[in-house]
Amino acid sequence: MDKPSDKDILQGDFFSPGQKDFSLRRKSFLWGAAISSYQCEGGNFNCDWHLWEKEKNLAPAGSACDHYNLFKKDFALAAHLGLNSLRFSAEWSRIMPHRDTVLGEELAHYKEVVRSLLSFNLKPIVTLHHFTNPIWFAQKGGWLDDRNIDDFIKYLKATVEALKDEVDTWVIFNEPMVYVYNGFIHGSWPPGMKSLRAARRVLDNITQAHIIGYAQIKDIYKKIGKTVNVSLAQNLHYFYPCPEFSFGTNTLAAILVNKVFNFSTLDYLVKRKALDFIGVNYYSKTYIERKGFSGAQCSHANHKERKNSLGWYICPGGFYTVLMALKKYNLPLVILENGTAENTEALYGEYLVSHLKQMERAIAAGVDIRGYLWWSLLDNFEWDKGYKPCFGLIEVDYKTQERKIRPFAQEYAKICRGSKIG
Ligand code: BGC
Repeated sequence: MDKPSDKDILQGDFFSPGQKDFSLRRKSFLWGAAISSYQCEGGNFNCDWHLWEKEKNLAPAGSACDHYNLFKKDFALAAHLGLNSLRFSAEWSRIMPHRDTVLGEELAHYKEVVRSLLSFNLKPIVTLHHFTNPIWFAQKGGWLDDRNIDDFIKYLKATVEALKDEVDTWVIFNEPMVYVYNGFIHGSWPPGMKSLRAARRVLDNITQAHIIGYAQIKDIYKKIGKTVNVSLAQNLHYFYPCPEFSFGTNTLAAILVNKVFNFSTLDYLVKRKALDFIGVNYYSKTYIERKGFSGAQCSHANHKERKNSLGWYICPGGFYTVLMALKKYNLPLVILENGTAENTEALYGEYLVSHLKQMERAIAAGVDIRGYLWWSLLDNFEWDKGYKPCFGLIEVDYKTQERKIRPFAQEYAKICRGSKIG
């Protein structure tokens, strides 16, 4: 089979069935990075997170990386690093600042973003919902009310229509489980609720919105005779029972949490044929102990793995386990996020290479992985943790908006350009 050209990669041929001879060094493998609107763009004052920061007295996202204005500069750096793809999100609250307003100039902005990516030979992968909602949507009950699903679909259709000629890979929702857990169970993200019932309802509504949105996107592309790949980004942890003696109940709890958090949404959507590939976000290992009839992150502070600067247990082997578990769906996988926030340069490099080796191992074991995107291209606003954690291939000075490529990113650049891992 001939090697696909850059044009093939940009236009999505890398997903076509029959392309089974994939390998990491094949030209069509996606090597990229991911970002999201609220975390990078700056100036997003029409969404629920903006209100939440004020209400909770959190560090504000403010002008973030000013990526809304500096996107060309950022894409030039991504291209300089040898990446061939970039995942970004459109900001719903910019496009629809009011329920009845779809702003043409904001759609034009994202069209310019996409065109800029293409001019740098970066394949655009566009996320439609990355944790933020317009204020008007949140105020009418947000995802708690199934009558509001239509509002999201209106935004989805307008955005997909505007970008359909240049984009062929869409991620409707980023990490529904993380959104639901933080916003409706743990209460640390807007709207700050702690209710299992509410969480269940929100997850149901988001899943329904995905199914409707999936069909709408397919329809739009069918009309123009173009193929399109649609998915979600699923956050998967390597859940592991806390080794403290528990008569096996921690093991049962870990199995349950794994089933619900990692796989229930995927099971549901795969069964309904609403995913063309699986978007995988993997970061770390989480120890589980029994809590009531279920399980929760265990409270013991020191398990054997090292922790990153956020206290997350780093476990490359868990990445392999999770990837192997996804084989059962028989769908291509794209790693849409993998990354870490560290305090030393060496640890970033170690994380990167050790996880890529596990991905390589999974590919060798027959897992159909089509791409790997590092989280994140830029240091950015880490939600309730503010600006302290640094996930970027590129360091950002938030005062001057200067960018500086981190040394480990040069290591990534070599791999993206075809060198051996490690
Ligand atoms: C989210 C990002 C976040 C990253 C690091 C992912 O779960 O999609 O928005 O910045 O994790 O916490």
